[in-house]
Amino acid sequence: MKKILVTGGLGYIGSHTVVELQNSGFEVVIIDNLSNTTFDVLDKITSITSIKPEFVQIDLKNKKDVLQFFKNYTVDGVIHFAASKAVGESVEQPLMYYENNITTLTYVLQGMNANNVSNFIFSSSCTVYGQADELPITENAPTKPAESPYGATKKMGEIIIEDTSKVTDLRAIALRYFNPIGAHETAKIGELPLGVPQNLIPYVVQTAAGIRECLSIFGDDYPTPDGTAIRDYIHVVDLAKAHIAALNRLLNKENKAKCEFFNIGTGTGSSVLEVVKAFEKATGKKVNYKIVDRRTGDITAAYADTTLANKELGWKAKLSLEEGLASSWKWQESLLNVNL
Ligand code: UD1
Repeated sequence: MKKILVTGGLGYIGSHTVVELQNSGFEVVIIDNLSNTTFDVLDKITSITSIKPEFVQIDLKNKKDVLQFFKNYTVDGVIHFAASKAVGESVEQPLMYYENNITTLTYVLQGMNANNVSNFIFSSSCTVYGQADELPITENAPTKPAESPYGATKKMGEIIIEDTSKVTDLRAIALRYFNPIGAHETAKIGELPLGVPQNLIPYVVQTAAGIRECLSIFGDDYPTPDGTAIRDYIHVVDLAKAHIAALNRLLNKENKAKCEFFNIGTGTGSSVLEVVKAFEKATGKKVNYKIVDRRTGDITAAYADTTLANKELGWKAKLSLEEGLASSWKWQESLLNVNL
């Protein structure tokens, strides 16, 4: 049985990926510092898969702990989710973002290198493309200057990994996620709400639940068919499965370069208004909204050309926007039930 380290394995995408790893016969050890999640996610994962993943509470900012972990544990690969991800917060606290996302990455790579662990999967983002000149976006599209320290950490992370792969045994795949949405069908794991949501789907869901009064749609004067901005919303379970495909590619030594990059999206763009309509259709719930000014830093449109991932990883998104939105709603309902 292959053993995989999942950093940030109790987070949103991490927890769904741990479930898919265990369902695919991998043994998992999770590192998480619980900075943006809660310990009970471990029990939820266990109740979904009937397997309790090993858990080590380490803060990756502590170099000694990271290096000691790699001495103590023999792993066949690392999927590295642990990072901070709030764009606005990164603008306010750039040094925290560079320490949380970059310093920690260098420690993990050093620990791997010192202990001959070579297979690495990195959570990157379509944010590296900025507003791409052509749509859909292929992996050959040039990366653009980052709009925020968060975006910069994804760009820099890719560079650090590629540079390291040139001079060590590191074999890496960076997955450039488009917009992850949804939750596991059991509604036992999902994106934990912390404060006022900054992302669209959590805001839509909380508005439908009556927690927020009204969704602000940021701009209806974009050069798109209905004037609202377009994104590629991918179900988190499909996204999790992309990690298994990437991992198998590395373990089977099918990778064609030491460091590879893949877009992970559905290939379909949806506007903000289309998302609101699709949510109402999928759930029967009404969403109050109003149009407000554009949000600084937002781009007009981004959706993936997924040809490379389809062909090379043998992976394709299967779940629809409606299924993603319905699962987000089911997850929200389960949270409301707990809070009652
Ligand atoms: C945002 C981040 C991006 C990050 C991604 C992770 C910004 C500027 N970008 O992307 O770096 O990788 O999250 O998922 O924050 N919208 C509204 N009202 C809202 C919230 C969002 O109209 O209350 C609109 C936005 O203007 C955008 C779309 O919904 O057009 C999606 O927004 P969001 O979910 O925040 O994702 P991104 O901005 O694409």
